[in-house]
Amino acid sequence: MSLLEVSDLRTYFYTEAGIVRAVDGVDFEVEAGESLGLVGESGAGKSVTVKSLLGLIDVPGKVVDGEIYFDGQALHEMSEQELRQNVRGSDISFVFQDPMSALNPVHTVGSQIAEVVEYHTDRTEAEAWERAVTLLDDVGIPDAEQRADQYPHEFSGGMRQRVLIAMALSCDPKLIIADEPTTALDVTIQAQIIELFEEIQEKYGTAIVYVTHDLGVVREVCDRVAVMYLGKIVESAPYDELYQDPHHPYTQMLMRSVVTPDRDVSELEPIQGTMPSAVDPPSGCRFRTRCPREFDECGRYEPPRIQVGENHDSACLLHDEQFEREEPALHLDSGAAETDSTSGSRGAYDE
Ligand SMILES: Nc1ncnc2c1ncn2[C@@H]1O[C@H](COP(=O)(O)OP(=O)(O)OP(=O)(O)O)[C@@H](O)[C@H]1O
Ligand SMILES: [Mg+2]
Repeated sequence: MSLLEVSDLRTYFYTEAGIVRAVDGVDFEVEAGESLGLVGESGAGKSVTVKSLLGLIDVPGKVVDGEIYFDGQALHEMSEQELRQNVRGSDISFVFQDPMSALNPVHTVGSQIAEVVEYHTDRTEAEAWERAVTLLDDVGIPDAEQRADQYPHEFSGGMRQRVLIAMALSCDPKLIIADEPTTALDVTIQAQIIELFEEIQEKYGTAIVYVTHDLGVVREVCDRVAVMYLGKIVESAPYDELYQDPHHPYTQMLMRSVVTPDRDVSELEPIQGTMPSAVDPPSGCRFRTRCPREFDECGRYEPPRIQVGENHDSACLLHDEQFEREEPALHLDSGAAETDSTSGSRGAYDE
């Protein structure tokens, strides 16, 4: 069993404009010590996915379906109180984009870390403080002993993010979820924080789910990548494999838009189009409205994630033998060929 197993996660927001299907049938796993990158454009549902794991979705949102197993425990069955006491901040911790909003301005950073340690462990106040200082030192804050006594506003943005990472590490989590942790920082500081994540993984063996829209960052930090589009994972593979052989047309488009060791700025192609609304997503394949390789069947069948290599899957009908021929071989009877999901036969794609 993997450390984290998420299946058929669905989180919707009930708004005046309609039901926003922000996360709509997401499956993924994270092994102990592994780092998974969750990538995709703005609005793909990355943040909603990771917040859903820990019951951090507020009204008008709701996790409407899915199972979440972490270290054998069913998180989807836990109450808010159980999650807060036994999971959030201890077994699983979060690092968010904006460190200032996650820190309390009127308490010193040392006391805030110590408080987390005290809440989740049986350390005394003095031991918790000592642990806070050690952690601040571990995440590269110089003069940690003195700095622990200072307030968040006395730290630069990058240093504040280090403080949050120290806090995230404070109870020896098995999993850290980092949601765009460097977006608010300037480029050189970003690189340092990314390096820190790499060090943490090496030193503590913590599993990481790293959310970002930047495939370049993923290269630095992640073993494996899951690409999200409009509430679904469309491709998942070890990073190297995804990079060398992206299968899904969306991943291919994303890949062409980033600088890599063998592609410089002059070869970049900007991402075309915009993601449709999650209130009324396209039928069939959600990417088809922007896909350069769309064909008739794409609007009729929701492509399942098809295995295309070891540990590598992609949700595109092009990988399905039935559709590979120029003249698609599959001609279902007219009733089934409509988008009516209640009709008797939809080939391999009954839901
Ligand atoms: N509180 C909310 N009310 C209504 N819709 C919401 C709410 N929060 C998120 N959504 C919608 O859910 C979808 C997914 O949002 P999410 O924040 O997960 O995207 P993301 O992939 O994290 O994007 P970004 O890269 O911009 O952070 C979007 O369509 C967004 O508008
Ligand atoms: Mg987000």
